[in-house]
Amino acid sequence: MTRVFSGIKPTGHLTLGNYLGAMRQWAAVDQHRADALFCIVDLHALTVDHDPARVRRLSRQGASLLLAAGLDPRLCTVFVQSHVDEHARLSYLLECVATDGEMRRMIQYKEKAVRERERGGSVRLSLLTYPVLMAADILAYGADEVPVGDDQAQHVELARDLAVRFNQRYGHTFVVPRATLPQVAARVMNLQEPTSKMGKSDDSGPGIVYLLDEPDVVRKKVMRAVTDSGREVVYDRQSRPGLANLLEILAACTGGDPSELSGAYDSYGALKKDTAEAVIEVLRPLQARHAELCADPGYLEGVLREGAERARAMARPTVDAAYRAIGLLPAL
Ligand code: TYM
Repeated sequence: MTRVFSGIKPTGHLTLGNYLGAMRQWAAVDQHRADALFCIVDLHALTVDHDPARVRRLSRQGASLLLAAGLDPRLCTVFVQSHVDEHARLSYLLECVATDGEMRRMIQYKEKAVRERERGGSVRLSLLTYPVLMAADILAYGADEVPVGDDQAQHVELARDLAVRFNQRYGHTFVVPRATLPQVAARVMNLQEPTSKMGKSDDSGPGIVYLLDEPDVVRKKVMRAVTDSGREVVYDRQSRPGLANLLEILAACTGGDPSELSGAYDSYGALKKDTAEAVIEVLRPLQARHAELCADPGYLEGVLREGAERARAMARPTVDAAYRAIGLLPAL
């Protein structure tokens, strides 16, 4: 059976981008057709300036939102990265296979390092080695497929390279994974800055729809979305990025096609109104389920405990095999 692994980082409140680009696909498709693991990757949240209490809170909330979005612990494994030591164990071995040049070429590293310096902070070493830990997440489980949004494709490519290199040097140990991207909404853009991704760690609140935003807040954010000059509604990512983003969000929420949908509108206002309502309808059941889960914290704890046990049992044989293959003496 195909093995699928993916993760989400508790660095901010989860967004519509996370949902349309990743979580929805995990719930609707991946957990039904594959042996799937979904992880709150909390170690990754420590790579930038962080508040310990906030990371803990967002980890719990992130896990709850995964379940609220439809992940079913009877069908897939939901767990927290730091509960399974194998990620950190394998990450070190992969650091011995990766090069510093490879790390410095990663687009997200370059962008985030600039941002940290602009804020007057220093860049944590773990930000540079982040993609190695991500490769460890994937390779520890022998994942064949990694369903992610477009922004993570380069990292999954690196995981492939490291798997191939390790296997060539030390003997076949890892499955070589590949990224799978959603057909629509692989990159939901910020409503205020439609040339940048809608990212949960960004500061520009009005351009980001959070999964727990109330309907009125969603309406306000979508109605105030930046649109482009020109009056007719056409789908063109290059010249009309704001409009294209709205059409893609509407398409992703209603199951339509952005280009076809553009023909149905003759004003921006009508498009925004329908997009806002479509988003609200998509979020409604998720928010209701999240509220139920909040009322029963013991259930979530049980899911995460069991998830970690299952994940540990899956990862340990591969990571132990990697330790032997690379030349480490087995523990007695
Ligand atoms: P993260 O936490 O930034 O995002 C989680 C998932 O949501 C997708 N995503 C988006 N998709 C479309 N439009 C957007 N605006 C948008 N924003 C986020 C991301 O592509 C991702 O699929 N490094 C990863 C977490 C990670 C991981 C892993 C993923 C750590 N280890 C192993 C897969 C496998 C990250 O920061 O995702």
